[in-house]
Amino acid sequence: MTKTALVTGANKGIGYEIAKRLLGAGYRVLVGARDQERGEAAVAALKTYGNAHLILLDVADLHSVDQAVNTITQNHPELSLLVNNAGIPGDMHQVGWECTVKDLQATHQVNFLGPFALSKGLLPLLIANKGMIQNISIPIEPLPYFNAFAYSTSKAPLNVMTKSWGMSFEKENIPVEILAVMPGAVSTDLNGRMTGDFVKTPDQAAELIVNFILDGENHNGQVINYDGTLAVY
Ligand SMILES: NC(=O)c1ccc[n+]([C@@H]2O[C@H](COP(=O)([O-])OP(=O)(O)OC[C@H]3O[C@@H](n4cnc5c(N)ncnc54)[C@H](OP(=O)(O)O)[C@@H]3O)[C@@H](O)[C@H]2O)c1
Repeated sequence: MTKTALVTGANKGIGYEIAKRLLGAGYRVLVGARDQERGEAAVAALKTYGNAHLILLDVADLHSVDQAVNTITQNHPELSLLVNNAGIPGDMHQVGWECTVKDLQATHQVNFLGPFALSKGLLPLLIANKGMIQNISIPIEPLPYFNAFAYSTSKAPLNVMTKSWGMSFEKENIPVEILAVMPGAVSTDLNGRMTGDFVKTPDQAAELIVNFILDGENHNGQVINYDGTLAVY
């Protein structure tokens, strides 16, 4: 049977390339997009590579998350892979105490609460299909060259969720794997299409990310750096 994956924020950037690679690997891909027009354009392009369908999904809106969960449960009960890719950076240059509560609510909603609600809603299908949740994340320790308060504080709970759910899946013998991948710097709209020797293309990032899905190894509970090392907290 064809495997089915949902990739959130798949209309551009890393998510689009993840969708493309999963199509190449034979997955049916539900292309999550919050905007119908951008979503339809991406699906039209992705159809060249395989079986792509649009799922309208705004992870900032819990009603939209519920609707997507209901649609997928009804129409794609075979879903076995959720890639929580949709994300926003907030203002990456703002000193922590200058962020407003509103800034933090916005980043935390998109980068953690939305993915949490979506993962929770789709968990029954993922359990039934012995599936996988893959979170796209970042290292969360503040560094002199990367100290983005709203962004890091919103991804920190996603990393904790990966380790915590992974531990509980194992303890409760739940046949689902959860992992997070931190691809390093990637040139996308999220960072103004940054350039540099150390910066990956979205396609290179997607190759790294999708390899952890296809490599046949058990990565449950792991938060994995682009160089393969694991985050230890
Ligand atoms: N770029 C990097 O250096 C880097 C490094 C590590 C991790 N990441 C992570 O990789 C993921 C993808 O980022 P990217 O670099 O590919 O950024 P991007 O090119 O800006 O793409 C972000 C995607 O997320 C979608 N999105 C934003 N808010 C959403 C919402 N409320 N509901 C649904 N979709 C939403 C965007 O849709 P619209 O087109 O509608 O805005 C877009 O499809 C993010 O989680 C990011 O944190 C990126």
